[in-house]
Amino acid sequence: MSSPTQTLVFATRNPHKAAEVRALLKGRFHILTLPEAGINEEIPEPFPTLEENALAKTDFLFQRLGCDCFSEDTGLEVNALGGEPGVRSARYAGEPPQDAANQQRLLERMQGVTTREARFRTVFSLCLQGKSHCFEGICEGRIAEYPAGKQGFGYDPVFIPTGAGQTFAEMGMEAKNHFSHRRKALDAMLHFLGEGI
Ligand code: IMP
Repeated sequence: MSSPTQTLVFATRNPHKAAEVRALLKGRFHILTLPEAGINEEIPEPFPTLEENALAKTDFLFQRLGCDCFSEDTGLEVNALGGEPGVRSARYAGEPPQDAANQQRLLERMQGVTTREARFRTVFSLCLQGKSHCFEGICEGRIAEYPAGKQGFGYDPVFIPTGAGQTFAEMGMEAKNHFSHRRKALDAMLHFLGEGI
């Protein structure tokens, strides 16, 4: 159980992720991102599964700050590519991670491919008093033929969630949160905390 002012450090320096999560939490928790918590180095994500990477990030933060925290790791899994880019989504087009290059590589690989089903999968790790708990969120959809929309980040311009007629990047954050993997994982985490949305 939490009080409305409970602080949780969110292991991200991505302002879009922080905005999505804050909009969903509606002030129920005080969220600090990594820069706001004074963590300036990158936390490595070296593992072959989203769950291991999410857990590694909360372990790292708990060791550094000793406070309650959560993290997430996300992958885009494309059926026609055997589940790629998956856990390697951030670096699909190589180093350094770049959204436009990742989108371009994906669309090149998908050129002429008619089976375009894909999903975003997110694993959250919540660390309370040093004990971690994982929650998953999945958003089914398909890969667009070309990028559309300017909002959001990452693969948002090339992903159309099932039930929508536009990409995440065209619909804006509120509508994205209605469909998104991150919202579903957060729902599960809040349910665990006794704070269902
Ligand atoms: P990470 O979880 O930040 O490591 O994300 C892995 C890759 O997926 C990065 O390229 C992100 O930009 C991308 N990504 C993560 N979440 C989303 C999302 O909600 N929409 C679009 N791309 C995302």
